[in-house]
Amino acid sequence: MTTTAVNTAQPILQARGLVKTFGRVVALNGSDLELYPGEVLAVVGDNGAGKSSLIKCFSGAHTPDSGEMLVDNEIVTFRSTNEARHAGIETVFQTLAVAPALDISENLFLGREVRSPGILGTVFRKLDTKWMREEAARHLKELGIGTVQSITQTVETLSGGQRQAVAVARAAAFGSRVIILDEPTAALGVRESARVLQLIKDLRDRGMPVILISHNMPQVFEVANRIHVQRLGRRAAVVTPQTHTMNDVVAIMTGALTIEEADQALVPPSGS
Ligand SMILES: Nc1ncnc2c1ncn2[C@@H]1O[C@H](COP(=O)(O)OP(=O)(O)OP(=O)(O)O)[C@@H](O)[C@H]1O
Ligand SMILES: [Mg+2]
Repeated sequence: MTTTAVNTAQPILQARGLVKTFGRVVALNGSDLELYPGEVLAVVGDNGAGKSSLIKCFSGAHTPDSGEMLVDNEIVTFRSTNEARHAGIETVFQTLAVAPALDISENLFLGREVRSPGILGTVFRKLDTKWMREEAARHLKELGIGTVQSITQTVETLSGGQRQAVAVARAAAFGSRVIILDEPTAALGVRESARVLQLIKDLRDRGMPVILISHNMPQVFEVANRIHVQRLGRRAAVVTPQTHTMNDVVAIMTGALTIEEADQALVPPSGS
């Protein structure tokens, strides 16, 4: 496959020929992917192109039928989302995995509850609720989500955008190797979207690679270092915001243009 974006470093995440079927539906048809250190990789594609299926393999939510996944050049298999988390891969799923009846702080620390220091924690297994609430408030503040009224508000009482913010805050707080965001701004207002985009850039600048799935081309072109175009269950192209336009990407997404045609259309600026 031709890729116009070449990177010589070793990928942190790599997929080779992933296949995932659901009965007769082929969600992934031999899909490749590479995520390199220090980059934001956008994954774009039409509805049903297999974007969520692809990242769910790395999140441990799907087990591919065949193909290989590598983390830091080692072949991995994830049988659960917990196993992927353990490997440092934190995902915000398109369908948010938040627990509506729990409050913001409880959601942030779900499955990672911190116990009180001393005998209260070790013997009586008391949770350090105060510490977790303070930490949760700090993470939301870092994300610039000032619209949440109280950290003890249950998540079911939050707006869609606020829920999204909680999920993104959780991923940013706990991802140690890679953060995957599947349509993180779809439910967000303009201001909140800008905050999440800024957070993505900050994460990258702190050395945390991010995979961002999005339909929002301006957002993709604003933050992505490289753009993986998924089409019909496989990777159709990898381009960069410097070498291709939004129109090129949309044309490759829909099959109106092949990557070879898009490359031929690249005309160097006159005089260079
Ligand atoms: N759990 C499932 N059971 C059956 N079919 C599925 C399942 N998950 C995905 N599919 C199918 O696999 C294909 C790829 O779906 P996927 O969710 O990966 O697409 P997507 O690129 O994320 O789309 P969107 O942009 O709409 O989120 C679709 O045809 C979808 O219907
Ligand atoms: Mg999807």
